[in-house]
Amino acid sequence: MTRTSVSEPLPVVRVGMLGFGTVGTGAFRMLQDNREAIRRRSRTDIQIVKIGIRDAEKPRIAPKELLTTDLRSIVTDPSIDVILELMGGLEPAGELVETALRSGKHVITANKELLAKHGSRLVALALKQGLDLQFEAAVGGGIPLIQPMKHQLAGNDVLKVMGILNGTTNYILTQMFEQGKPLEEALAEAQAKGYAEADPTNDVDGYDAQYKLAILSTIAFDQVVPPEAVHREGIRGISTREIHFAKQLGYRIKLLGIVERMPDGAILARVHPTMVALSHPLASVNGVYNAVWLQGDFVGDVMFSGRGAGADPTGSAVVGDLIDVCRNIRIGGAANFVMPEEQAKPAPLESLRSRYYLRMVIQDRPKALGCIATVFGNCNVSISAMEARPLGQRNLIEIVFLIHPCREADFLRSLKALRNIHIVENISAWMRLEE
Ligand code: NAP
Ligand code: HSE
Repeated sequence: MTRTSVSEPLPVVRVGMLGFGTVGTGAFRMLQDNREAIRRRSRTDIQIVKIGIRDAEKPRIAPKELLTTDLRSIVTDPSIDVILELMGGLEPAGELVETALRSGKHVITANKELLAKHGSRLVALALKQGLDLQFEAAVGGGIPLIQPMKHQLAGNDVLKVMGILNGTTNYILTQMFEQGKPLEEALAEAQAKGYAEADPTNDVDGYDAQYKLAILSTIAFDQVVPPEAVHREGIRGISTREIHFAKQLGYRIKLLGIVERMPDGAILARVHPTMVALSHPLASVNGVYNAVWLQGDFVGDVMFSGRGAGADPTGSAVVGDLIDVCRNIRIGGAANFVMPEEQAKPAPLESLRSRYYLRMVIQDRPKALGCIATVFGNCNVSISAMEARPLGQRNLIEIVFLIHPCREADFLRSLKALRNIHIVENISAWMRLEE
């Protein structure tokens, strides 16, 4: 159906962009392709008037006269109302965002590292200036997540948040699982599709998910959770053997971000590869898709899912924020939420209770299994299932154990003790389980 265009003259909102890579291009294309709908819904005429980039020679879909390598001139331009920071990294992005706010401009950013490390200070500055600082694209790509958490779910006492927060690693793990591809090949594909960070070790080693979980935790628990308070493990150690056993045992391997409030009020936040049972709602979230499950005291369980990375979904989140800011500009206000000032007390990972997967190689000797069972028993660790298979060399056996829920401190103590008994050749791998 063709809709008639808005004929009345609309107030102009002048926008400056910092960065025109994957996300910047996605947002720009959406503003062009859906121009009429965006005019109608924002009741403003959004004009991109300057675009800051680093390399003036790269071919771009934007008119050349909009481009500049002088990014400072954009954030200090008195005619610009809104800045889209889509360049990434801490600096110069941080300094430019701060200058933009001090110069009276609303800011929309997709920069999770900047928000995780300096979000409280920047939101406080925006509040003081009476300006918007919005960041829907920073977590979960195209999924509407930050706005519902800040607004519609704000009356809840959040109990737990758990999610797949990184599209690149979910894409890699899916390719490893379904196609048997090596990590490097799947990573190259994710980079070509525009999912990965400028430095993809941020994805593979879990930093990107750590920043995102720090942001979600801060909003969910109304206390500042800095990235250092989030335990982080990446996916580099995932071998084809773990993929094999995960399949055989009825699990998928996912890089999960999980945060919960412990009984003493401390916050336990962690990012690590997890074996997720096939019956779990996150097990079927594959490829570039992200999903976040949240439990609130009144709302109960809520699940958000969608494409977590890439030009179009992330561009969609940026444009959504821009429309929101334009509506606020029309009514002369800003819709910032109050950023907590109180620091969260981090809970030690050793206080976690979890189930575990463990693979080890032992010598095939009489009483070997009894010896291992005694170590587990002495550490309050109980076996729920076991599978053993001769390796056909030097009388060795590969054993996989599934462990009943126990304290992480006890499980780690049992691993330490197992490494010290002579029949254990090596502890090959272990992982936490989610049922
Ligand atoms: P990108 O493709 O690498 O684009 C970065 C853009 O910023 C480029 O246009 C680059 O200029 C410009 N830039 C970077 N440093 C600059 C500097 N010092 N001076 C001038 N220009 C500079 O990155 P992206 O994937 O679009 O990501 C941008 C931001 O969005 C990051 O914070 C990222 O974490 C976040 N994000 C990305 C995704 C995604 O799916 N990719 C999803 C959600 C959030 P040139 O073009 O000249 O190199
Ligand atoms: N590199 C990030 C990811 C981009 O793969 O999820 C989206 O934040």
